[in-house]
Amino acid sequence: MGVTPGEPLIECQGLSRHYPIRSGLFGRETGRVRAVDDLTLHVRRGETYSLVGESGCGKSTTGRLFLRLELPTAGRVLLRGVDITSMRGTALRRFRRLAQPVFQDPFSSLNPRMTVGATVEEGLVIHEPDLSRAGRRDRAADLLALTGLDAGCLDRWPHEFSGGQRQRVGLARALSTRPEFIVADEAVSALDVSVQAQIINLLRDLQERLGLAYLFIAHDLAVVKHLSHRVGVMYLGHLMEEGGADALFSDPLHPYTRALLSAIPNPDPGAGRGRIILSGDVPRADRPPSGCRFRTRCPSAMPRCGEAEVQLLAQADGRKVRCLLYGQGAPSPARAGKGSPPGLSVPGMPGESAPARDASEKTV
Ligand SMILES: Nc1ncnc2c1ncn2[C@@H]1O[C@H](COP(=O)(O)OP(=O)(O)OP(=O)(O)O)[C@@H](O)[C@H]1O
Ligand code: SF4
Ligand SMILES: [Mg+2]
Repeated sequence: MGVTPGEPLIECQGLSRHYPIRSGLFGRETGRVRAVDDLTLHVRRGETYSLVGESGCGKSTTGRLFLRLELPTAGRVLLRGVDITSMRGTALRRFRRLAQPVFQDPFSSLNPRMTVGATVEEGLVIHEPDLSRAGRRDRAADLLALTGLDAGCLDRWPHEFSGGQRQRVGLARALSTRPEFIVADEAVSALDVSVQAQIINLLRDLQERLGLAYLFIAHDLAVVKHLSHRVGVMYLGHLMEEGGADALFSDPLHPYTRALLSAIPNPDPGAGRGRIILSGDVPRADRPPSGCRFRTRCPSAMPRCGEAEVQLLAQADGRKVRCLLYGQGAPSPARAGKGSPPGLSVPGMPGESAPARDASEKTV
């Protein structure tokens, strides 16, 4: 999907969330899990910004910080330029209305003791207290219709619905406060592939109709490729690469992005993009490697990669990359638009850009 123009709706600047590790009788702090470290990114109105990366890299923590479900250790989150971390009272209530989560598990995220109607009306009771009972019910029916469910569902119970239908109810509940920004953390991961496709189409449709901005967090890169305008690749709390989805998926720059994307199954066995198997495990988040955090697993690592923290730098095409192969005194122009970075040789990977998005994916 093409990049959407416009001002940021919501953004973070130098955002960090560190969790203290305590031990001993007196609970002394002996270390810190750096779940999110110095993160700067923005999401525009009507845009889907996806966060990807291996388990534990800080995606959900970022989502919670954007929703102000927890407070940062450092840095700020701004909604239209206003810092949400210092909001109180009416301003905070307004923020809660404008920013909504959609959760991963459609089975546990709905209260089994509340009908679907009561679930969807809950937000209306809080945020539109002047609405009459009949008015609330009408609005709930409209919201269900928006997500593809009929008004007959209002008096039914969550256990009577399939996973996909429950996720539609979850979306109707999120939409009840007329949000502008939704954090969808693994919102389709628990669903069957065919149901996943329906919910993804619904998310896109709602975005077009309502101008919603999504922070979309997912493991499934094929889904991310299909749904996103821009993508941020995280590793150990750091943003490693950020760019338009089309450019990033067709020509990944950072060695970590290349490895991640190589895991996407390719329907064309002759396409030539080989799987890059990274050696070793993700290092502990309380003891990240010095210098580049990816260096202990990077096939292109050089001695100087461990010397100093590597910065996220803008490239000529507008993408941002945190790697010494791209700027920061790189020994050679690592990127001439094509080919693997020096030292990253992959069996079966010819070094050309990946094939353009397959037509079959457009049916998702
Ligand atoms: N409340 C907490 N206390 C201590 N550490 C935490 C807490 N929440 C998260 N962490 C740690 O922060 C790091 C990032 O966690 P986070 O849940 O954000 O990762 P994630 O990218 O969402 O992973 P996954 O893909 O598995 O959902 C992990 O090392 C995790 O163990
Ligand atoms: S800075 Fe060095 S270790 Fe880090 S990704 Fe680039 S080449 Fe690899
Ligand atoms: Mg998570």
